[in-house]
Amino acid sequence: MGYQRGIVNYIGSKLKLSNFLEESIRETVGNIEEATFCDIFAGTGIVGRRFKAMAKKVIANDIEYYSYVLNRNYIGNTRSFEKEPLLDVLNQMEGTKGFIYQHYSLGGHGDRQYFSDANAMKIDAIRQMMESWREEGRIDEDQYFFLLASLIESADKVANTASVYGAYLKHLKQSAQKPLILEAAVFDTEGEGHEIYHEDANSLISRISGDILYMDPPYNQRQYGANYHLLNTIARYDSFTPQGKTGLREYVRSDYCKKSVVVESFEELIKNADFNYIFLSYNNEGLMQSQEVEKIMQKYGRYSLATTKYQRFKADKTENRNHKATTTTEYLHILEK
Ligand SMILES: C[S@@+](CC[C@H](N)C(=O)[O-])C[C@H]1O[C@@H](n2cnc3c(N)ncnc32)[C@H](O)[C@@H]1O
Repeated sequence: MGYQRGIVNYIGSKLKLSNFLEESIRETVGNIEEATFCDIFAGTGIVGRRFKAMAKKVIANDIEYYSYVLNRNYIGNTRSFEKEPLLDVLNQMEGTKGFIYQHYSLGGHGDRQYFSDANAMKIDAIRQMMESWREEGRIDEDQYFFLLASLIESADKVANTASVYGAYLKHLKQSAQKPLILEAAVFDTEGEGHEIYHEDANSLISRISGDILYMDPPYNQRQYGANYHLLNTIARYDSFTPQGKTGLREYVRSDYCKKSVVVESFEELIKNADFNYIFLSYNNEGLMQSQEVEKIMQKYGRYSLATTKYQRFKADKTENRNHKATTTTEYLHILEK
């Protein structure tokens, strides 16, 4: 597979598993060309992006706003437009001392070094310009979300973190010293009428229906809103008082990251799903045991299981992102409802 853009080291990203997923789904469903495919925990959008090219319609959803932005661009955008002229203007802008500079670079009034001073100022300048273009009607919603997705991914590339945004590094690592360049978050234009949501999966499920429901919830206690808080802050660009050492904002706590309620929420989702086929990605290190998942799914139809082993890169505290590899078993639980 060619190089695919995305958030670097997104926890639970299915980038490396997308061949396995496509093969298993095709094997179970057969013809997917006429299908409505829903990616209800969409994250970077990598799975929905693959199925956008094959299925009739994609529904993408995620509880995090940065993910909504990425999916609104990668899945929601179906009309092509000139990208370079917009990117060129933004790339040539002088940096400005805005919210990101103030709170997330050394030059600001803290010691949070999530970005170099120059890159933080560039993010501020680009982000502010996008907002005025939107207000002035110089860009439409499709272009706005394309530019915002491009900024989220380009800023993530030069972030001074070991992997996620739960901590920044003391010294500016090499990739964070490079100047931020706004690169195009290029989307495919297939299909039409794709739907993008930004909701809790359990509340959305009663309002949607289709043929294939793909579920890729969090596996463990690590809340995405905390681990990627800065991406939400760039995406929303609102005003708030950053909290603590890492400048955290308020974030949503997902039930899928809580041992006490995850099983209950999962069953509710399965029960309320109006889809013929349901696929659940989960691994052997998750909060729910494989047998628990099987027991629940079996209540609602014909159950089967596909598995694959893959090399996962575990985040550690070193200053680069070449983490230690461990082998994980990835499950794809299948239900014909
Ligand atoms: C394992 S990741 C999905 C990764 C995605 N398949 C990819 O390849 O990028 C889980 C996602 O579920 C989202 N999430 C967590 N709780 C949620 C909820 N209750 N409703 C909707 N999305 C949720 C998280 O924000 C995160 O993006």
